[in-house]
Amino acid sequence: MLNDIQGKVILSGLQSSGALHIGNYFGAIRQHLLLQEQNECYYFIANYHALTSIKDNKQLAENTLMMAVDYLALGLNPDKAALFIQSDIPEVTELAWILSTVTPMGLLERGHSYKDKIAKGALPNHGLFAYPVLMAADILIYDSDVVPVGKDQKQHLEMTRDIAEKFNIIFGETLKLPNDLILPEVAVVPGLDGQKMSKSYGNTIDIFMDYGPLKNRIMSIITDSTSLEAPKNPDTSTIFSLYRLLADSDEVERMRNKFLAGGYGYGHAKKELLEKIYLYFEAPRNKREQLGNNLDYVEKVLKDGAKKARERAISVMERVRNSAGILKFL
Ligand code: ADP
Ligand code: TRP
Repeated sequence: MLNDIQGKVILSGLQSSGALHIGNYFGAIRQHLLLQEQNECYYFIANYHALTSIKDNKQLAENTLMMAVDYLALGLNPDKAALFIQSDIPEVTELAWILSTVTPMGLLERGHSYKDKIAKGALPNHGLFAYPVLMAADILIYDSDVVPVGKDQKQHLEMTRDIAEKFNIIFGETLKLPNDLILPEVAVVPGLDGQKMSKSYGNTIDIFMDYGPLKNRIMSIITDSTSLEAPKNPDTSTIFSLYRLLADSDEVERMRNKFLAGGYGYGHAKKELLEKIYLYFEAPRNKREQLGNNLDYVEKVLKDGAKKARERAISVMERVRNSAGILKFL
C-alpha cells in the first residue's frame, strides 16, 4: 500500500513530549521511513505542541534534540527527507493565527484529544484547546498531500480539512486539502495494560530502553489468570499483539500454536517478546549512541531540513496573506 504512494508531498510531526515508544514506531515512524523512498517528505518535531504539556525549558529542549537523534537512529535519511523543528518555521504560527479566525469554537469544543487530556488532569490552557489549529497550520503550510499518522490523530486530520475548507469558502481557493493515511493492520498498538500505548497513560514500552528496565516493563504486561497448563487465546493477548508486530510470520505462527496448545505460560511468552524487542532495535540503538556523540551533525541536519521546509512555507504563506488581505512590508 505504501509502495503505491509516489511523488507526493508527505508531512508528519511527532511531539517532543517524551521518549519514543513502540506505538510511535509501528503507528507512525515506520510508515514515515518507508515513504521517504519515493516521495518528497517533511518530518518535524512538534515542540510548540509539546509546550502545551511540558513547562520545563531544559526538558523540552533536550527532548526536542533527542527526538531528532532518535528519528535519525531509526533510519530517517536526511538526503531523502527534510527533518526539522517546528519552531524553525515561524510561518506556522502566523498561519495558525489566521486559521484561528475562521475556526468555529464548536469544532474545537468537539475535540476528543482536548477532552481526554483534561479528563486525565491536564490544566486547560488555550494552547491545549487550540492544538488542532496549530496542527492544521503545520499541515497546510507545506501544501501537503498525505499525512501519515496513527488512528488516534484521525479527528485532527478531519479538523484540518474542515478548517481549510472554511478558509477557502471565505477567502477563495487558497489552501490544499490533504488526505490522511492510516494503516489498519497496526492502527493501535496496545500498552502494558492493554489500552492504547501512550506516554500520557504511563503504559509504554520505549524503543531505546536499556535491557533491565525493558525487562521490568515487559514482565509487567497485564495478563489474565489462566494457568500455565491451560490453552490460551492469542487473539486477546497483549503479549501476542506486540510480538506479531516484530516477528516474522513463522515465528508468529509458532507462538500462536504454543498459546493454543497450553503448557506455555505468559511468562514464557514475555521472555520471547523481550528478546525480540531488544534485538529488533539493536542496530538503531548503536547508531543512536554514535549520533549522541555527534550532535553537531544532528544540528546541521535540522538546519538544512528547516531551510528546505521554510521555502515551501514562505510561498504558501504569501498566498494566504494575499487571500486574507494581510499586508507585510518587511
Ligand atoms: P503519545 O500518545 O504517546 O503521546 P503521540 O501523540 O506523540 O504519542 O503520537 C505520535 C505518533 O505516534 C502519532 O502519529 C500517533 O498516531 C502515533 N501513535 C502513538 N501511540 C500509538 C499507538 N499506541 N498505536 C499506534 N500509533 C500510535
Ligand atoms: N498531534 C500529533 C501527535 O500527537 C503531532 C503533530 C503535530 C502532527 N502537528 C502535526 C502530526 C502535523 C502530523 C501533522 O502525534
